[in-house]
Order: sequence, then C-alpha cells, then structure tokens
Amino acid sequence: MSQEPLGFAIIGAGVIGPTHAQAIEAAADAKLVCVCDVIEERAQALAEKYGAAWTTSIGEALIREDVQAVSVCTPSGMHGDHAIKAAEAGKHILCEKPVDISLRKIDETIQAAEENHVWLAGVFQNRTVPEHIKVREAVRGGKLGKLVLGDCYQKWYRAHSYYASAGWRATWELDGGGALMNQGVHGVDLIQWIMGKAARVSAYARHLTRNIPVEDTAVAIVEWENGALGVLEGTTSNYPGLNMRMEISGDDGTIVMDGNAITKWAIQGEEAEEVGEAEEGASADPLAINSVGHVAHVEDLCRAIRENREPAITGREARHAVEIIKAIYLSSREGGATIELPLSYDDDGPGITSKLGSARLEW
Ligand SMILES: NC(=O)c1ccc[n+]([C@@H]2O[C@H](COP(=O)([O-])OP(=O)(O)OC[C@H]3O[C@@H](n4cnc5c(N)ncnc54)[C@H](O)[C@@H]3O)[C@@H](O)[C@H]2O)c1
Repeated sequence: MSQEPLGFAIIGAGVIGPTHAQAIEAAADAKLVCVCDVIEERAQALAEKYGAAWTTSIGEALIREDVQAVSVCTPSGMHGDHAIKAAEAGKHILCEKPVDISLRKIDETIQAAEENHVWLAGVFQNRTVPEHIKVREAVRGGKLGKLVLGDCYQKWYRAHSYYASAGWRATWELDGGGALMNQGVHGVDLIQWIMGKAARVSAYARHLTRNIPVEDTAVAIVEWENGALGVLEGTTSNYPGLNMRMEISGDDGTIVMDGNAITKWAIQGEEAEEVGEAEEGASADPLAINSVGHVAHVEDLCRAIRENREPAITGREARHAVEIIKAIYLSSREGGATIELPLSYDDDGPGITSKLGSARLEW
C-alpha cells in the first residue's frame, strides 16, 4: 500500500535551509510542506521554489497537521529552543550542527524529545560518506592494532565578508565560538566518532587575524579514552583553505584522509589499497555544500519515524563534539591546562565548569 511521504517544515531559510529543501525533495519518503523564516522574502522564495507554504512564525509552521518533521536551520544558539518547540508540538527533528552551543540546552532538548516521544536527529553529514564509514569500521574493528594517534586538521578559510554576512556569526551568544564551534565541529565529531570519546584535552584558542570575539584558530592535544593521543587543529584564517585531513595510526597500520578521499591505507599483512584523490570541499567556500549527506540524514529520520527506531545520530551522539570543544575553550582560558571530560555545568547560569574548579565558561 503506498503511503503519503512525510511532511517536513524548514525553520531558517538562510545558507543551509536551501540544502535541506533540496535534500527533502530528493529523499524517497519526504516532502517539503512549509518554510519558516523571520525574513519574509527568504521564507517565500524558498517555499515557492518547491511549491510549499511559507510563514514568518514558527508557531504557525508547527501547528500544521501536514508537518511531521522539522529541519532546524536557524543560528546555532537558537537550535535548542526551536527543537524544543518542535518536540512540544509533536514533531520529529532534524537539527543542524551543533545541536546547540550550550550543553545544558542540548540536554534539555534531548529530554524534550524523549518526553514528547519524537526523534531528535543531529546533522553531521561527514558521517554519511562511505569512505569515512569504511575508515571507522577498520579502526573500530582493530585493523590498525593498538591505536596510538588520532589527529584531525581542519584548516579552512573564511573571509571577513563571511563574518559580516549575518550578525550572529562569530558571537559567543549565538555561534558559541568560532573556528571550532562553527566549522571545526565537523572534524571534531568525525574524529571522535572514529576514535571514541575524549578523556582530556589541553589547548590554545586564539583570534589571530579576524576582528571577532571568538577564536579563528585553535590547537588541542587530546587523550582519547582508549589511551591514544592526538592533535585537533581548527582555523578559518588559513588562505586558501585546505581539505580536512585526518591521520589515524596504530602499531599495525595507518590511514590518512584528505577531504573525503582515503590517501593512505597501509595495514600490516594486507596488500596496500589503491588510494583516492582528494577533491575540494567547503574549506574556502561556505556555499560549496552538496546535499548528498543531507539526503541521507533526511532518509534516515524518515526510516526512524516509520520503523520507530533511533536515528543514526541521536542528540546524545551529537553532543560529545560540543563537549570536546567546550573543554578546549576552558583549557585555553586556563593557559592550556588539562581539562578532564565529562564536563559539568553550573547550577546558577549558562556556564560550564571543569574539575579544575577555577575555569568557567559562559555559554
Ligand atoms: N551542515 C553544514 O555543513 C552546515 C553548513 C552551514 C550552516 N550550518 C548550520 O546551520 C545553521 C544556520 O546557518 P546558516 O549559515 O544557514 O545561517 P543563516 O544566517 O544564513 O540562516 C539562518 C536563518 O535563520 C533565520 N532565523 C533566525 N531566527 C529565526 C526564527 N526565530 N524563526 C525562523 N527563522 C529564523 C534567519 O533569518 C536566517 O535566514 C547554523 O547552526 C550552522 O552551524 C550547517
């Protein structure tokens, strides 16, 4: 028996909203029915392209009976509030990265989804890339032997014009940080998805070339829970921008990735695999995102709804990258001190604290 595709609303029709629209239209079991943006022309233009309704009021979008799921594409510091509203309206949620910039808000969002019996799925489209899945399976399957190093370098470029393109960008209040919390969260999530959770970090975060209150460059030493060490680097001030690079080594092998391409696959006792060639991605151009990964996210959420099972990236799954980045900021504030994870948040405000006791981070 054929059934109607699941209806989606998009909240936020800026840079990434149109990618969600493309993905929803391309997905097997989804249909775009409504677009919401506080800027009327944006909502209208995107909606009309797909024959959907539009509104400037999130309440109006959420009350619609033909909306079963919502793509949250608003500024990062609004994600939790908008996702909670969607959960309370009984809508399933596909939430852009990061799920929120506050750990407390992420936990409240997870709770709201659970209490309202809707699925909360996070976007980290790099996890849907077949090469990344292959690397993770090899690492998790023990092919590299005892893991010794797991590094991720995300040296991207964002011009001054990018920061000027929307008032929330590079603000603590709504972006939650800079090169790490906005762009670098992709790499931090990917390497921790492959390596496992981080146990402790020590880091420097600086604004070196941009007149912004948040970091444009950061470097962290990380000790993974499995005992391996690693380096995380993130910048948006590296002209002309390089592909994200990952290097993972164990005493039985090494894998290197340049963007989505595996450029080294050397495992003891295995024939060397043919390696791929890197292609340019969004390292210098925030608009250079294709919708392939987002289609996978939309289809996964549709299957989760139909089959009543968890989406691939739950809120809890998407949370750890934010926690690692918060720990990096805390460490930098303490001059590179070692910060142990997990972090806890203050009872009396939006801040988080480390076991050091003295370091406190707003937002
Ligand atoms: N997955 C990716 O690769 C990727 C790429 C870009 C952006 N993002 C994420 O997507 C989110 C949005 O980023 P962007 O670059 O599209 O930002 P943007 O500023 O271009 O778009 C955000 C839109 O939200 C609208 N908005 C703000 N408040 C609203 C409200 N209360 N109700 C409805 N609409 C509202 C704004 O008017 C704006 O059009 C961010 O969290 C960012 O991290 C993800």
